[in-house]
Amino acid sequence: MSLPRPSATTTALITGASSGLGREFAIQLAALGHHVTIVARRGDLLDQLAEELNAGDAPGGVSVIVADLSESTQRQALLDALQRNGRAPSILINNAGFSTTGPAAKANGAAEVSMVRTNVEAVVALTVAVLPAMVAASEGAILNVASTASFQPLPGQAGYGASKAFVLSYTEAVSAEVSQFGIAVTALCPGPVETGFAEAAGFTEAEAGVMPKFMWVSPHDVVRAGIDGLVASKRVVIPGAANNVLAHVARHSPRGPLLSALKKYHPSL
Ligand SMILES: NC(=O)c1ccc[n+]([C@@H]2O[C@H](COP(=O)([O-])OP(=O)(O)OC[C@H]3O[C@@H](n4cnc5c(N)ncnc54)[C@H](OP(=O)(O)O)[C@@H]3O)[C@@H](O)[C@H]2O)c1
Repeated sequence: MSLPRPSATTTALITGASSGLGREFAIQLAALGHHVTIVARRGDLLDQLAEELNAGDAPGGVSVIVADLSESTQRQALLDALQRNGRAPSILINNAGFSTTGPAAKANGAAEVSMVRTNVEAVVALTVAVLPAMVAASEGAILNVASTASFQPLPGQAGYGASKAFVLSYTEAVSAEVSQFGIAVTALCPGPVETGFAEAAGFTEAEAGVMPKFMWVSPHDVVRAGIDGLVASKRVVIPGAANNVLAHVARHSPRGPLLSALKKYHPSL
């Protein structure tokens, strides 16, 4: 299988493109000739990226749409703007997301709900919004950014781990439903990657650095692995050999001892 070809009436819609993995997805998909539609809340960073892409390697062009994806009205405005632009997403990268940290008993309720809306609700809303046209065209590709946190519960980031478990389960099921129509649906499950993620989650540099060096993969290589996974129509991609092994160990370990160990070593507990 291959990615849908770039065209004048399609776009690669990339959420969370103002930073980190989303920014890298925009760079790599633009270089493949796709028109990219980049979405996030921080419009200044999106404009900066659009300028860089337009000055460099983006033969298909770039559209910027500012939206808070945790808000259903703003998600609808995003879909309306795509229609006005005359471009249907042939590729959807559901990448926007963040983590809260700390014990659930001390959580900020509004932040928890906003995280679930961004990490889960927006992924579902955008997936079901674009799928019918992809099925009708018998062409399309959707990549949902999950995490190695998808493979086991995560004390200290309970809501985040659960949100990413949802993304993994949802993606695998939808993949099974639409693969017969030639549509690739892939869950990308990175381990630690140096992006704005740790700072947005409130980890100090020292706390973020407790993850052993061998687990870290660069944003470029994570995104490369994700795009290669879509091209190969893989259901699940875990970048990095060590992360692959650890994810499988976590998935099959007895929950009691695993949860105790994760709780003991989580920096926020
Ligand atoms: N970095 C890691 O170690 C790691 C590991 C596993 C999985 N992941 C996942 O990778 C994805 C990308 O994160 P990253 O590592 O690239 O972190 P990042 O640099 O912090 O990027 C997160 C992106 O999500 C956007 N975003 C957050 N909330 C949003 C909202 N309500 N509406 C619209 N956009 C929103 C942010 O843009 P604005 O702030 O401008 O809105 C930003 O562009 C996330 O889903 C994350 O869970 C990351």
